[in-house]
Amino acid sequence: MFLGIDVGTGGTRAVLIDRAGVVVASFSSEHAAIHSEHIGWAEQDPDDWWRAAREAIAGVLAACGASGGEIEAIGLTGQMHGCVMLDAEGAVLRPALIWCDQRTQPQCDWLTEKIGFARLIELTANPALPNFTLTKLLWVREHQPEIFARIAHVLCPKDYVRYRLTGEFAMDMQEASGTLLLDVAHRRWSEEVAGIAGIPMAWLPRLFEGPEICARISSAGAGATGLAEGTPVAAGAGDQGAGAVGMGILAPGSVSATIGTSGVVFAATDSPVRDRLGRLHTFCHASPGRWHVMGVTNGAGFSLRYFRDTFSPGSSYEELLELAAKAPAGSDGLLWAPYLFGERTPHLDPEARAAFVGITASHERAHFIRAVLEGVAFSLRDTLTLFGELKIPVSAMRLGGGGARGPLWRQIQADVYGRPVELLEAEEGGAFGAALLAGTGVGAWPDVEAACAATVRVAETIPPGDASVMNEAYKRYRRVYPALREIAKG
Ligand code: XUL
Repeated sequence: MFLGIDVGTGGTRAVLIDRAGVVVASFSSEHAAIHSEHIGWAEQDPDDWWRAAREAIAGVLAACGASGGEIEAIGLTGQMHGCVMLDAEGAVLRPALIWCDQRTQPQCDWLTEKIGFARLIELTANPALPNFTLTKLLWVREHQPEIFARIAHVLCPKDYVRYRLTGEFAMDMQEASGTLLLDVAHRRWSEEVAGIAGIPMAWLPRLFEGPEICARISSAGAGATGLAEGTPVAAGAGDQGAGAVGMGILAPGSVSATIGTSGVVFAATDSPVRDRLGRLHTFCHASPGRWHVMGVTNGAGFSLRYFRDTFSPGSSYEELLELAAKAPAGSDGLLWAPYLFGERTPHLDPEARAAFVGITASHERAHFIRAVLEGVAFSLRDTLTLFGELKIPVSAMRLGGGGARGPLWRQIQADVYGRPVELLEAEEGGAFGAALLAGTGVGAWPDVEAACAATVRVAETIPPGDASVMNEAYKRYRRVYPALREIAKG
């Protein structure tokens, strides 16, 4: 059996799978709420992830009555980009600034000015965005120099959990791509970017490909979790990278749309395809020798959660979706722009703001909910529009995350993307992919392709309905952001 551990934003999930890709057991443990001292700030305590990981591991073992010794290998995945800072003893220096923290635009501007926009894309394949790890380090240098002076190691969230499990400082190529410190084309740290930014190379962990075994469970890790000392740990990948493996998105042409808290449209490529304007992320794939591009909507599933908590407290998602199904496609002209956390793709604008547009007295609550679902799908379609511009092929699309559960959001996505969408048997997201990387690492399959071929199965294909209403609505949606930007300028 292989264990995948997903250190997400809301919680940590552990999933045990067998060699046929059957999920034997899973268990989740929630994290404490995101701490946000100011608008746009988002921090979490790395030791809370470690607490949740211990609970998830103990929970998954108990759920199927397995002992740690039955696990052949472990793979890690998790929320990407977070900046975990440790001192020379390996102690956490301050809470981690996580992926959705938006405070670092001034540091992004500084770095872009220093290196040059085009040169930064040449070196790292990506522009400076507040989400990325390096810009968070620069913020700490500027605002908390006494902490910066004590940094000895920098890790991403799941890599901190790896450190606690194994005592090793390691990171995979896909995760490292989201730090802005990786030379994505050559799959190595960019000494040039680190040098210009003033980040010592000694702070950076060793790099591995996703399925590579990079560490083993230490005796302290075993004592804390019930895992067996010496169990191999694969490098794994960030949540999007491992999620893509779990969905079989490996060959060029295969694309996924995953709606979790954020929403991601992900395409596998066989070379690092860069967008000159930096609107897409270009990262190493978790499968060696491959790359991927992805567009990210910051507030995707979060849009629905925000709507529920703010306007429909106490309702379940099922109730909201049932009500939304009563409104017609196109929500009678009501539009939702989902920029609750600013936006990445395609606007690269941390100051973007969300809006409902086109409300009339005949719109009811059902229209608002449906408009939220449609608006999120439109924002993911923006990434498909960019793929078209950059000639990135799309031959088949698979859905993942909460947006793939329940018939309404699936159908809306098929209609908005204007193509059939596939649903998969295993809906375990990143943890499933991380377990496949672990199994590949210990030779259960010769490579990631074989792992996916043996375990990833399509359960259902949903054809698109009449595209005309959604195409019209999408045209109107495209005009919303420029108008909002005008308003934001004041
Ligand atoms: C990807 C991204 C999110 C986070 C949180 O770039 O920011 O997927 O990893 O899930």
